[in-house]
Amino acid sequence: MSAHPTGTPTSPRDGHHDIELPPGGAEERVPSAFPTVFSWDYNIRHEELLRLYEKGKTLQWNASTDIDWSIDVDPERLTQEELDIADVILGLPERLDLPRRRALDHHFNGWLLSQFLHGEQGALLATAQIVNTVPWTEGKFYAANQVADEARHVEVYRRYLTEKLGVSYPVNRHLHTLLDQIISDSRWDMIYLGMQIMVEGLALAAFGLMRFTAANEPLIQQITSYVMRDEARHVAFGVLSLQDLYTKEMTSTELKEREEFVIEATMLMRDRLLMEDIWPRLGLDAKLWLPWSLHTPFMVGFRQILFSKIVPNLKRLGLLTPRVRKTFAELQILEFESYPDSTEESETAMPPALMAFFTRMQAAGVQFPGLALTA
Ligand SMILES: [Fe+2]
Ligand SMILES: [Fe+2]
Repeated sequence: MSAHPTGTPTSPRDGHHDIELPPGGAEERVPSAFPTVFSWDYNIRHEELLRLYEKGKTLQWNASTDIDWSIDVDPERLTQEELDIADVILGLPERLDLPRRRALDHHFNGWLLSQFLHGEQGALLATAQIVNTVPWTEGKFYAANQVADEARHVEVYRRYLTEKLGVSYPVNRHLHTLLDQIISDSRWDMIYLGMQIMVEGLALAAFGLMRFTAANEPLIQQITSYVMRDEARHVAFGVLSLQDLYTKEMTSTELKEREEFVIEATMLMRDRLLMEDIWPRLGLDAKLWLPWSLHTPFMVGFRQILFSKIVPNLKRLGLLTPRVRKTFAELQILEFESYPDSTEESETAMPPALMAFFTRMQAAGVQFPGLALTA
């Protein structure tokens, strides 16, 4: 594989870029011990799940032919003027000359899209497990359909990173921990909760933001709109599948385990967003940049926004328990509980403060904030 430890990317125009590997290497085996469930009565128990399955079948798309891969992507396209305006708002901790500032932007994009890629692989493996473990026939139908969706998502991000962007990152250690935890769980509802509600819920909010943050990159816009169409369905399926189970069938001990998991996963996902992988690759001082990513108002707001889809969905599932509420209040994400959940509204709502930010940027002539703050 090609390694570019100093942050010099392979120009995508040079040809193929290999995805960077994690310390453990190219292959990782995670043991799992879940029971595979036959459903011999073939009864349909949930009509609304069957409707989503039908919808999934009619909304299939082909990543090779529906996306215009001939679109040229210049990952370091931003001008000094655009970056200057953006940096006032972003409050970067030090001034970088134009090549380094462009490299920073390029690496942000590469890092974020790489995490999307790894998350999509997690979703692919998790959904394949759900085919086996969910006890309902219509659940198996739907999950099988989703396996094809997730394969397509891995396909598009892989192709974008290897052919267009030329900078990639291994799976972030916090995301890695979360994915391993989800994939090795023996309970099908935990796989759903972790992947469909938490990981994909965050991705859905991030994709929604991408419409603004990468407004002048038409290829990623095409990819994002197709992927989002699938993800909205996936998150809705997760909510519909789990709500009866969590609100009517589970014991309080069982629910307590789900509550613990939600809190732990929230912490891992928040920590994933500190971007600490980037600084050493670019030769930037982590002592300067880590506090920036932790405390700058824009970054704080940005991290909160990414939970805008997860919180109302957890509420719908009855998992916004006093303990979860307390944690969410501390993280300042509890306010999203009043937002529409994924069964009511598939779009990502943009909170007014962030909408105002992007409107200000656009009014200043910037279509792109100069930091691909998109995941
Ligand atoms: Fe996906
Ligand atoms: Fe998905």
